[in-house]
Amino acid sequence: MRSCTSALALWAAVLAHALVVSASQIVFSAPTNTSIGVERKPFGRFLHVTDLHPDPHYKHASAVHSACHHTKPKKHKADGKQRAGWFGTALTDCDSPPRLVASSLQWAAKNLVGKDGGIDFIIWTGDSARHDNDDKLPRSSREIFELNRWTLDQLERAFPGVPLVPSVGNNDIFPHNILFPGPNAVTKEYVQIWQDHVPEYEFHTFEQGGYYVKELLPNRLAAMSLNTLYFYDNNKAVDGCVRTKGKHNVDPGTAQLDWLEVQLDLFRQRGMQVHLLGHVPPTAGNYFARCYKRYTDIVLRFQDTIVAQHFGHMNTDAFFIQEDQDAAYAAQHPSVRVKQEGLPGDLKQDYSTLPGKGRTDEDLYSVFFIAPSIIPTYYPSIRLWTYNTTEGARYTASTTTTTQDDGIDEVDEEDDDVDLDEEDEAIVDVRSRHHHRPVPPKKRRGKKGKKRRRARHASAASPSRTNTYLSLLGYSQWVMDIDAQNDAIERILKQHGDDEKRRKHAEAVDVDYRLEYATYPASVLWADFAPSSGYTGPAAVPKALLQKELARAGVEEPWSKGKLAKPLRHMSEYALESVSVRTMMDLARRLMVDKKLWRRFVRRIYSESGYVP
Ligand SMILES: *[C@@H]1O[C@H](CO)[C@@H](O)[C@H](O)[C@H]1NC(C)=O
Ligand SMILES: *[C@@H]1O[C@H](CO)[C@@H](O)[C@H](O)[C@H]1NC(C)=O
Repeated sequence: MRSCTSALALWAAVLAHALVVSASQIVFSAPTNTSIGVERKPFGRFLHVTDLHPDPHYKHASAVHSACHHTKPKKHKADGKQRAGWFGTALTDCDSPPRLVASSLQWAAKNLVGKDGGIDFIIWTGDSARHDNDDKLPRSSREIFELNRWTLDQLERAFPGVPLVPSVGNNDIFPHNILFPGPNAVTKEYVQIWQDHVPEYEFHTFEQGGYYVKELLPNRLAAMSLNTLYFYDNNKAVDGCVRTKGKHNVDPGTAQLDWLEVQLDLFRQRGMQVHLLGHVPPTAGNYFARCYKRYTDIVLRFQDTIVAQHFGHMNTDAFFIQEDQDAAYAAQHPSVRVKQEGLPGDLKQDYSTLPGKGRTDEDLYSVFFIAPSIIPTYYPSIRLWTYNTTEGARYTASTTTTTQDDGIDEVDEEDDDVDLDEEDEAIVDVRSRHHHRPVPPKKRRGKKGKKRRRARHASAASPSRTNTYLSLLGYSQWVMDIDAQNDAIERILKQHGDDEKRRKHAEAVDVDYRLEYATYPASVLWADFAPSSGYTGPAAVPKALLQKELARAGVEEPWSKGKLAKPLRHMSEYALESVSVRTMMDLARRLMVDKKLWRRFVRRIYSESGYVP
């Protein structure tokens, strides 16, 4: 009975807390110096957290097949005896106990930010409420919003003053996946909840569509937070980016893509770079065919302005290469028969059909990243990015030439080919749930036989293509060995002595994350230990954490005679000089020829939880 009371108490605390937070206006202090044109130098780091899924009904030691909610379920399947872990239960459908969310964010604030320098912003790509996975405890809009307030409060407490860039996930609404065109109660509620993080001048846009732009480094770097629910093919309340005749009743996905295109053009004219982010990743399996096709087309055409794209939702760790339709057509890659199932199979399909390096026109490619989650669908994970802050060589897109196809004509939006869409739809239906490249288009039957094509903004000098100001340098991936940490708690709870004391002892234990891998070369990752490395960028990882990794690996020094200690080598084996279209395509190709590397990559897709698809 005691644990039941404490679950209720926790829920009450969550609610009370949330009410206090929403009632009091938090004064948001931006870390950038707001006097016009003058800012402090950025740290060159940011965090990506996603899919936190706090569940106030989560009950330690309850039955896993009751969604970790109930203690005495009917015993049925073989897994009927598995009990809910203290910090969460990996490889199950259970959500996160609130302590996992709170403790993980505190760990990140204390360790990833640390003394060596701060972070400039946090991208937070949605799903900050529990799943609808228990008939006995149905969700409500009210609960979902309160959980979002609670999660926001945890982030604000852990990272005071750090700009947050939130976005809506498919579980942040009731019923899940279903979001009607705005303005509606959901978009109005989230603009309220995130009022300190969505810029005031974007409130109206947000109420309309649930998306917004936010400048991260004034006049230099911006984020565009997308509302991917209008692209998500499980959202039965929208038509999936149809083009309607006339100006009324525009599909909200179409409206969002129109907005995306206009905004990208404006940022481009201002010589800025943009991070795109959202919850559901832009794969053909997740998006309506038309949304997928047009989104992919837009991001490829603004390759010189989009520095990166970040998503969540899948709880896995992956990157996809986007390819222009014409490149796909020209390559005529046969559909390879991939033996591997699930996401690794889809990625293999994606990577193995890339053209060889010498035949690649980099103008026609882009990359997006999917970050793994805090919810222990696999193992809880957090990503720390670094980027180039050397402003000397600033790339300004507007002053450079743009690759354009010959005979360009402004495209007439209205007759932008219904026939194409129908064709794509049919093909998507027979393909897999995840991702595939666009299918070669039928010869476009433009008005008056003109080849209708929009301008392509691509440049080998842009930050997505070469390491320059605002380019991504790389990321480190942090993982929590949740099973081991649950076991440690069980040992505490089994000790002799007073119940209350043991529980208090357990409550005081914080989570701990370790370095799973990083994209950097060893000379960058371990630069702090080699004073002559010459590396001058932001520290990839705070030194104190690297020291922990040394202890974990049982080595005293990372370097000996210029060589990295063997137990550390796998962590920096991707050895990417920076993250660009070229380096990511190279990595994809390497993964297709190096079987050992591929096996480690597949384990990393599932955060080394041991899950086998
Ligand atoms: C902002 O920058 C200006 C010019 O460098 C400086 O005088 C001012 O003190 C700074 N303000 C803050 C709050 O750091
Ligand atoms: C940042 O970009 C500049 C070129 O603009 C380059 O010289 C420098 O090495 C890059 N910094 C890092 C840390 O890679």
